[in-house]
Amino acid sequence: MNVEDAVKNRLSARAFTDRQVGEAELRAILEIARWSPSGGNCQPWHVYALSGASMAAFRAEMTKAMAEDPMGEEGEFPIYPPAIKEPYRTRRFECGEALYRSIGIPREDKGGRLMQLAKNYDFFGAPAAFFFALDRQMGPGQWAHLGMLMQTIALVAEEKGLATCMQEAWARRHTLVRRFFAVPDELQLYCGMAVGYADRQAPINSWRTTRAPVDEFATFRS
Ligand SMILES: Cc1cc2nc3c(=O)[nH]c(=O)nc-3n(C[C@H](O)[C@H](O)[C@H](O)COP(=O)(O)O)c2cc1C
Repeated sequence: MNVEDAVKNRLSARAFTDRQVGEAELRAILEIARWSPSGGNCQPWHVYALSGASMAAFRAEMTKAMAEDPMGEEGEFPIYPPAIKEPYRTRRFECGEALYRSIGIPREDKGGRLMQLAKNYDFFGAPAAFFFALDRQMGPGQWAHLGMLMQTIALVAEEKGLATCMQEAWARRHTLVRRFFAVPDELQLYCGMAVGYADRQAPINSWRTTRAPVDEFATFRS
């Protein structure tokens, strides 16, 4: 698989098969992805990898937490700006609509949409996951650098036949994640990532998001 294929084939998978992914596979992905660039080569990322019996234990804790507090906590940072502008607002809206359309949940079915949202906290059934954190001292630059690591991980996973879904949703469950991994106070949890083998038959994996054409976001002076 070349880079172009990996970039174009990667998608956010939201249903996974039972096929297991263990520490060896997660470690192999990180062995490659650690070569991602970062400003000043600071490598400002901390990764927590979850699989096997620990995934089962985490799921058990999460199931309990969901029962006690279905809505989750306030995140430590806003995932989106409070009144997100155009064209971002419409893009986000259309993405959500296409997702729910793929599984036949109309806009009025608030309960159905919440149930789908809650699947984030089961990693959409994925057998493994990563969580990403960075030091609270770090600013926008270093957050972007962490994003580079995450994208590299997603592409390396793709090359290995695995699928991923990045999950900012975990910002609303940061306390549980922090406790489970004993994340030090100076680190802030940013995002999770489900990892597994995509269920290719699942309707939720059957649609694709679109992208703006190059001239909508790029300015050329030649
Ligand atoms: C940093 C980041 C966080 C995301 N968080 C979530 C999430 O919490 N739940 C979810 O279902 N999708 C999440 N997504 C997936 C995006 O909705 C998806 O990447 C986008 O719609 C483009 O679709 P594609 O990944 O299939 O190309 C996230 C993506 C990124 C890059």
